[in-house]
Amino acid sequence: MLDTIAEIMAASSVVAALTGAGISAESGVPTFRGNEGLWAKFRPEDLASMEAFLANPKIVWEWYNWRRELMAGVLPNDGHRALAACESMFDRFTLITQNVDGLHAAAGSKQVIELHGNIHRNKCADCNRPVDSALQIDPRQIPTCGHCGGKIRPDVVWFGEMLDSAVTDEAFAAAEEAQVFLVVGTSALVHPAASLPLVAKRQGAILVEINPEDTPLTPLANYHISEKSGVFLPSLLSRITDVRATRKVKPS
Ligand code: OAD
Repeated sequence: MLDTIAEIMAASSVVAALTGAGISAESGVPTFRGNEGLWAKFRPEDLASMEAFLANPKIVWEWYNWRRELMAGVLPNDGHRALAACESMFDRFTLITQNVDGLHAAAGSKQVIELHGNIHRNKCADCNRPVDSALQIDPRQIPTCGHCGGKIRPDVVWFGEMLDSAVTDEAFAAAEEAQVFLVVGTSALVHPAASLPLVAKRQGAILVEINPEDTPLTPLANYHISEKSGVFLPSLLSRITDVRATRKVKPS
């Protein structure tokens, strides 16, 4: 299957990828679902919603500070690096992520569509203005916005919140145009992110899913690779490079 996908991608110029928590799993960032996932230990509605923040901002900030500390100590892996390298391999490569960990940028990706925000940034909970991301938050004394006095919160999308429409528009446009759409390390359960592969497929893209587990998307994928992304993606890239090199030297 590796060879077939590499052949298709070697001949493609417009490629997009959607990533989820699974791509960062090999870096040591916990995923959300499954036995070891965050949502097996914590209730999202108690920690990742505006209702939770209004009811108990201290607990919400303690949880986000814990996750920030955890993410501060991790490094991007070969999967992130392979996707960063894709930027120079195709005429157009769009990287869309549900992750808030910033590891794609840390791996060298210059353009990342972050659907669910970025945990390292702060913003005002009332007026939405961005706030200095270097600001350390003391959960017992949450700083307030210099403009409106609202409490500072992490710049991530919480349950029940809309995604930024400019960001989703860009992601859906990329899905509509892609010749190949990679779906990497996501359970494909959370919309609108999970709709992107469906839109891409409907518009004629070849869907390639890379995930050790099956997901609701698996039956629709043209190819399902049951491997870790940090293992498969580097092999795929090196195979694409081989295919292109062979084509170039092939006598016509
Ligand atoms: P999930 O935790 O739901 O799914 C992670 C997926 O990664 C699973 O399908 C795993 O099988 C797969 N996986 C694990 N290790 C992998 C590896 N090494 N290589 C490839 N795949 C691997 O995470 P997401 O799909 O990202 O939203 O979750 C979507 C959204 O739900 C998150 O962005 C978050 C969460 O609630 C918000 O916080 C708004």
